[in-house]
Amino acid sequence: MTNYLIKGARPLGGDPVDILLQDGRVAAVGDSLEATGAEVVQAAGLVALPGLVDLHTHLREPGREDAETVETGSRAAALGGFTAVHAMANTDPVADTAGVVEQVWRLGQEAGLVDVVPVGAVTVGLAGERLAELGAMADSAARVRVFSDDGHCVSDPALMRRALEYVKAFDGVVAQHAEEPRLTVGAQMHEGDRSARLGLTGWPAAAEEAIIARDVLLAEHVGARLHVCHVSTAGSVEILRWAKSRGVQVTAEVTPHHLLLTDACAESYDPVFKVNPPLRTDADVEALRAGLADGTIDAVGTDHAPHAVEDKESEWAQARPGMLGLEQALSVVIETMVEPGRLDWAGVADRMSVRPAQIGRLADHGRLIAPGEPANLVLVDPAARAAVDPAALASRSRNSPYAGRELPGRVVATFLRGEATVLDGKATR
Ligand code: DOR
Ligand code: ZN
Repeated sequence: MTNYLIKGARPLGGDPVDILLQDGRVAAVGDSLEATGAEVVQAAGLVALPGLVDLHTHLREPGREDAETVETGSRAAALGGFTAVHAMANTDPVADTAGVVEQVWRLGQEAGLVDVVPVGAVTVGLAGERLAELGAMADSAARVRVFSDDGHCVSDPALMRRALEYVKAFDGVVAQHAEEPRLTVGAQMHEGDRSARLGLTGWPAAAEEAIIARDVLLAEHVGARLHVCHVSTAGSVEILRWAKSRGVQVTAEVTPHHLLLTDACAESYDPVFKVNPPLRTDADVEALRAGLADGTIDAVGTDHAPHAVEDKESEWAQARPGMLGLEQALSVVIETMVEPGRLDWAGVADRMSVRPAQIGRLADHGRLIAPGEPANLVLVDPAARAAVDPAALASRSRNSPYAGRELPGRVVATFLRGEATVLDGKATR
């Protein structure tokens, strides 16, 4: 195994230091380090962060390997600076048994580019009727701790209550896709002035907020952990702030696209901007940025949702919802949060690594860059700016909402347990 001597990187944007990675761990952090036989990485001007952790990635394997595989998605993740991703359960077959989560986990190990952490379905087949075998998935080799029917809401309150009670036994968490389905029948975009003008059926903010309000009350009553996926409205941020002030064990994530884009994108009728929950208003975007800045929203979760061309490049109403996110997530956070001064580098590390790792109970991730810690880290050039070229992405799909957009920040290197998965901005395998 290669050892690496990183010269002159700035951990969390602080003073430049050398960092020695040896045998999978950070061996030393200090000035003028030397190490015979180690490969030297010149890192002057680069910021070092703990490896990023995504709570919400769709890898599409098994079932839609034409859109993404565990390997291609893992490569996209490493190039985005991630060292661990949670693989969502809405595959085909659904990840609702120990067998399927173990298969996804093993594929992740074989790809070896990031730790692929399977999410287990809450209900059998994501059908919202019967609980899946949550305990068997938790006990499996994949050690599942996060359970989600993402793509669908666990809308039955009694079933949601039972899921919360069940996962408490092994310190698991239910990650809810908050969408009251009776309020979003046929919905195509955010419900507001624009949907009325464009003649597209609206997805009201209240459909998200009603479920979050219900679920924080259930989580409080049961004393279990609740995580809210892809929070998208100002009202949701208010409810979360209230719940946290009461001591409810609730955490939440926001996607990069909800931090940057608004429902104005729908005016183009370009289905690349169709996503669930939909892009919202300027006021919602502002509330999401404020919520991420003050910690009401704990984490950035990409909701990386690759789709094959035939599922995405059609008329708006027929197109599947979802957009790519892994490779541009950090750049979008730099653009929307760091450059405007709303989050410093320690804040980025907290929201994109430390807290998501804690929520997923990943002991080896989200650790500081300090001697003895697992060598999971990323080197970022914050000064670089480039236009996004979808053809150059590692994902098997091309549905990036950032095509042609210039964004700051370039991932120069990513290390997973001391092995370089990305060097000089290129995947090593
Ligand atoms: O836009 C979305 N795409 N939202 C979801 O909840 C699911 C996801 C997908 O699987 O494509
Ligand atoms: Zn979702």
